[in-house]
Amino acid sequence: MTSVAFAATRDTASAAALLLFVGEGGELSEGARNLDAASNGQVGRAMKAANFTGKKGKLLEILAPAGTAAARVLLAGLGDPTKADARTFEDLGGEAAARLQTLEAELVADFGGISDLAVGTDVAAAHFAHGLALRNWRFDIYRTKLKDEQKGKLAKVTLVGAPDSAKPLSDRLQKVADGVHFAKELITEPGNIIYPQSFVDRVRAKVEPLGIKVTVLDEKELAKLGAGSMLGVGQGSVKPPRLLAMEWNGTGKADATPLALIGKGVTFDTGGISLKPGPGMEDMKWDMGGAGAVAGIMVALAGRKAKARVIGVCGLVENMPDGNAQRPGDVVTSMSGQTIEVLNTDAEGRLVLNDCMTWTQRTYKPKVMLDFATLTGAIIISLAHHYAGVFSNSDALWGKLDGAGKAVNDLVWRQPLSEPGGHYDQMIDSTIADMKNLGPREGGSITAAQFLQRYVDEGVEWAHIDIAGAVWRPKAGALHDKGATGFGVRLIDKLVADHFEG
Ligand code: BES
Ligand code: MN
Ligand code: ZN
Repeated sequence: MTSVAFAATRDTASAAALLLFVGEGGELSEGARNLDAASNGQVGRAMKAANFTGKKGKLLEILAPAGTAAARVLLAGLGDPTKADARTFEDLGGEAAARLQTLEAELVADFGGISDLAVGTDVAAAHFAHGLALRNWRFDIYRTKLKDEQKGKLAKVTLVGAPDSAKPLSDRLQKVADGVHFAKELITEPGNIIYPQSFVDRVRAKVEPLGIKVTVLDEKELAKLGAGSMLGVGQGSVKPPRLLAMEWNGTGKADATPLALIGKGVTFDTGGISLKPGPGMEDMKWDMGGAGAVAGIMVALAGRKAKARVIGVCGLVENMPDGNAQRPGDVVTSMSGQTIEVLNTDAEGRLVLNDCMTWTQRTYKPKVMLDFATLTGAIIISLAHHYAGVFSNSDALWGKLDGAGKAVNDLVWRQPLSEPGGHYDQMIDSTIADMKNLGPREGGSITAAQFLQRYVDEGVEWAHIDIAGAVWRPKAGALHDKGATGFGVRLIDKLVADHFEG
């Protein structure tokens, strides 16, 4: 965790790295002006030499300038300051972390004398620290031979000149970052470390101290409940399936109508008997990204004591080929009673999710249910890694997700869905059972969503979020390195804050 400290003036905070803001056109903040004077114009000369004009999101590093004890000064471009919003500062915090991570232990960022922004200086400072904390996450536990210059050192950011109101806001955002980081940890761990039971153990140790109630169903209990669809996926693995349910209730009312979140937690997806090709199969360690997102969301919401009742359910299985694995053509009966012809054992996510959906609706009677799943490769073909695809039976719920996503830059794009019995729905009708788990190649993400919709109870507002692309990105972004993104945690934190609290 990156710690966040506050200081009234820069005298009370000394560090080797100092960050000062510059508006578009080279307009210097108070701190940058003072340093320019104290260094006999070195700041201005460096900006000129580097052609740095304060463009939004750009950084200029000046090493060992005169007039300060700081060994490096970062000038951070705001663009038009009157348009600089929370996102602008978050992205700059992220860029600063990427730059300094292996170099400095602390960054001092000077907000003194900055005003006329699109947001208050409190919001600006808190979100700067948030972006920095998010981007500063590393996963080095298995790297025993890191050289000193490769090790993460950045541990603290000090915000100078931010009003007191920045503190509670920053504390809240720190809890959200904790949730994002927990999701990324689960997603980055390999399949030999994170399997259904170890996922449960790791999550339980994290969430119970936060006041979250944990319920776990093992394979025997799942069999008793008739979860034949989920159990069929796990039957080829020596690691038995688990259903993990987490409940956070910050409403003070035990029977408050809950928001339900369901996550696909295939801890490794080989494809089963419909075995995937070898190259790239290692990516399937993050086929539990939906469950990771749900666990991270619960950490964020409980951490910041959200005034909402939220249920997080993770369907945890490993999909393996084996003498006992299910075969293409097998027919299984789901907890709902509906039967499924399993035409392809690699279309397993929907087989796991449907039993979790049925159990959750029966147990908690939610009015709104969201599921997160790395469900289809086809959604990556459609949207690349930039957006998650949303399939919803509710225009209102879609609108809320879209708004939350834009606000925190966890972007979502709506995809088509037919009514039950409609043209896309008919594509998964089976000749031997109620439905098949596979449609034609065309519209692969849509038929997967249609399958799930057959398990949504009457009157429940539902959205399926296919995060196969968004959960893991091949390139670094402002707030994450390449790899796990923690997608979904900030999205749902914002959704809950805007629509499910108070
Ligand atoms: N876990 C995969 C989807 C996936 C692919 C996630 C690539 C992330 C990256 C899912 O279980 C799967 O295998 N889906 C198949 C479905 C097909 C057999 C209908 C797919 O997308 O090819
Ligand atoms: Mn699969
Ligand atoms: Zn899968």
